[in-house]
Amino acid sequence: MEVVVMPSYEAMSLAAAKLVADILNAKPNAVLGMATGSTPLGVYQELVRMHREEGLDFAQVTTFNLDEYVGLPRQHTQSYHYFMHENFFRHVNVSPGNIYIPSGTTSNYRSFCDWYEQRIKDCGGIDVQILGIGSDGHIAFNEPGSSLSSRTRLKTLAKSTIDDNARFFDRPSDVPIYAITMGVGTILEARQLVLLATGANKSQAVAAMVEGPVTSMTTASALQLHPSAQVFLDESAASELKMREYYDWVKIKKPHAPPV
Ligand code: GLP
Repeated sequence: MEVVVMPSYEAMSLAAAKLVADILNAKPNAVLGMATGSTPLGVYQELVRMHREEGLDFAQVTTFNLDEYVGLPRQHTQSYHYFMHENFFRHVNVSPGNIYIPSGTTSNYRSFCDWYEQRIKDCGGIDVQILGIGSDGHIAFNEPGSSLSSRTRLKTLAKSTIDDNARFFDRPSDVPIYAITMGVGTILEARQLVLLATGANKSQAVAAMVEGPVTSMTTASALQLHPSAQVFLDESAASELKMREYYDWVKIKKPHAPPV
C-alpha cells in the first residue's frame, strides 16, 4: 500500500485525478470503478476539467459504481444514480450504455447482483477503482463484519452510517436502511485501487485501515492485501498515522528509485 499525504484536499484530488487520467491515456477503453460521497468530488471536477480543456476522452470508457441505496428511484436527488449523473456523467462523454450503477429498485436483488458481477467480468474487470472510506472504516457499503471475500449483495447499513448520511435527507426516517454494494472481494479484484480520505473525522478509520490489522471490522483494511493500492490523504485525515515520516520519505525518494 502506498500512502501519499498531500497538503490540501485540492492537491490530493488533483494527484488522484492525474493517476486516473494516466491510466485512461494509456488505455482509452479502461474500465473505471466509480465511488460516491463528498470525498471524490474534487477528482471528478478535475477529470471534467481535463475533459473540457485537455481533451481527456471517455468515449470508450466503461464505468461501474460501487453501490446504491435500496428503495431510491434513480431520479431521487439522494440516489447515487443522480449523484453520478449530476457530478460527473453529464459533464463528460462516457457513452450512456457503458455506465453501470447498481439498481436500488430491482425486483430480484439476488439475480441483479449476480448479473452485475458477471458484467464486470465480461467487460474485462475494473482497471482502477476509486474509493472513499466511511467513518467506521467501510469501503463502498461493506459495513464492519462484512466478509473480506464478499461479492455484490444487499447489505443492511450500520446505524452509524445511517446517522452519517442523515444530513443529506429531509428527515432521519427518510435515510435508506439497505443498500446494494460491491463486496470487498469484488473490489479487491480491481487491478488498481485508489482510496481518498479527507478531514479529521476520517483519521481514526484511516489509521485502522493503513496501520491496523487486516480485519472485517475495518473493511478498508483489506487494501493491505491488494498488490497495487494507493491511499491519498490530506493532512487532517493523516493525523493519526504513526508511520507518517516513512510515507513522506517514500514520497521524496520514490521518483529517484531505479526504474521497475
Ligand atoms: C458512503 C459510501 C462510501 C463513501 C462513504 C464516505 O458510505 N457508500 O462509498 O466512501 O459514504 O462518504 P464521504 O466521502 O461523503 O465521507
